[in-house]
Amino acid sequence: MNAPASKPPSHAGPLSILARRLTRIYTVGSVQVTGIDGIDLAVAPGQLVVLKGDSGSGKSTLLSLLAGLDRLSAGRLTVAGHDLNDCEEAELTDFRRNTVGMIFQAFNLLPTLTVLENVCLPALLAGRAYPAVRSKAGELLDWLGLGDRLNHQPRQLSGGEMQRSAIARALINDPAIVLADEPTGNLDSRNARKVMALLADLNRRFDRTVVIATHSDLADGYATMVLRLQDGRVAP
Ligand SMILES: Nc1ncnc2c1ncn2[C@@H]1O[C@H](COP(=O)(O)OP(=O)(O)OP(=O)(O)O)[C@@H](O)[C@H]1O
Ligand SMILES: [Mg+2]
Repeated sequence: MNAPASKPPSHAGPLSILARRLTRIYTVGSVQVTGIDGIDLAVAPGQLVVLKGDSGSGKSTLLSLLAGLDRLSAGRLTVAGHDLNDCEEAELTDFRRNTVGMIFQAFNLLPTLTVLENVCLPALLAGRAYPAVRSKAGELLDWLGLGDRLNHQPRQLSGGEMQRSAIARALINDPAIVLADEPTGNLDSRNARKVMALLADLNRRFDRTVVIATHSDLADGYATMVLRLQDGRVAP
């Protein structure tokens, strides 16, 4: 598999992620549920962090906060230089579009769009010009081995192909940080290995900070940091 011709910009600099006493409590009716509770985390640029922990330990909650998809209840959080504590909604939208790329277990591709359209969408929403976006999407999809599937719809792809399309979509705006929540959860072992190797490649060759929440041990060999969660806290 060939890498994209242009190496994405380096994102070296101060810490990629700095969390202090990061807490998210969900309120459901009169019940309060702890998502995460007082997590401290410092991640330098270019690390590959593997988040582990039992179901319900807080991995997805932490990733959602890092991705700006959710708001923290208490603590402090800075991601790629963006203070996510009290930023405005518009700033958060811009952060989600340009600073982080998110990959989900269920791929979350839009079913009525083609692969190419799915990949281009975040860049078009960010206001980028179509010719450059189209060319970058083509380059990414070639790199991911999907150069001949541009005009196919997600339902015409295998799970591994859908996830690789979702990876291309996550990368279209050159995010400094790639966040993946159980990216191999719906894949067979061969495709799971391929997706983990791609994420590791992004980290090593293209300098991205990558955070992967996973129950699988496939990422272990690539990890530069392992964070184990237990009941919303960092396990002792
Ligand atoms: N939207 C929500 N509303 C209420 N409680 C929630 C919500 N999302 C998560 N939780 C709760 O927060 C805790 C942490 O959940 P989370 O989804 O972060 O765990 P996880 O480690 O990702 O689990 P899994 O491995 O099953 O994906 C759980 O007790 C869960 O029930
Ligand atoms: Mg989860």
